[in-house]
Amino acid sequence: MSDTAKYRIAPSILSADFARLGEEVDAVLAAGADIVHFDVMDNHYVPNLTIGPMVCEALRKYGITAPIDVHLMVEPVDDLIVRFADAGASYITFHPEASRHVDRSIKLIRDKGCMPGLVLNPATRLEVVEHVLDQLDMLLLMSVNPGFGGQSFLPYVVEKIKQARALIDSRNLDVHLEVDGGIKLENLATVAAAGADTFVAGSAIFGADDYQHVIAQMREVLASV
Ligand code: DX5
Ligand code: ZN
Repeated sequence: MSDTAKYRIAPSILSADFARLGEEVDAVLAAGADIVHFDVMDNHYVPNLTIGPMVCEALRKYGITAPIDVHLMVEPVDDLIVRFADAGASYITFHPEASRHVDRSIKLIRDKGCMPGLVLNPATRLEVVEHVLDQLDMLLLMSVNPGFGGQSFLPYVVEKIKQARALIDSRNLDVHLEVDGGIKLENLATVAAAGADTFVAGSAIFGADDYQHVIAQMREVLASV
């Protein structure tokens, strides 16, 4: 895959300035980001607590029209799926460990008019998605343990990205392969070459002084893959 238009950059607002969230999201989109990655943590499934559906709805009311990629790190998931769908989410992804009935939760997301995805933790086997892959719009592979921004990329996930790409392609599916955690300019090419097409970056983008510059540098790296 060398067509950069196939690659999507998804800044994680976890590293944004929450006091100015609307402006921050506007700024990264104006700087060339494609989708807004929205991390939802419940201090139960993960040891951190972030933002809920009211904030998603507020971004929509503020005027954000780009896709909002809601990453649920909550347990259970079904109630918040409904609330985020009503709040304007585009993608809703969840961790299979956090739903007692994974197939039902996927169908709930679809029934609510959103695009479903599953998220696999670094140590979770790819086989978990095998039977439901064709129902998904997104497969998200975590390259850090979920819960915090600014952690280091776990290199063993690269092999899993390759296996996931092979699985998706072997079935001719139109499922996006997203990677989340520790993505920086230095490892972006490796992650893209392994087969990912959607790149979450929190600290790498919001930690930069110039969002436009860092996103342009990311595009440059992706163009060389
Ligand atoms: C971690 C979150 C990530 C996080 C990534 O649990 O799911 O989306 O914001 O942050 P960086 O890019 O800083 O690793
Ligand atoms: Zn995330």
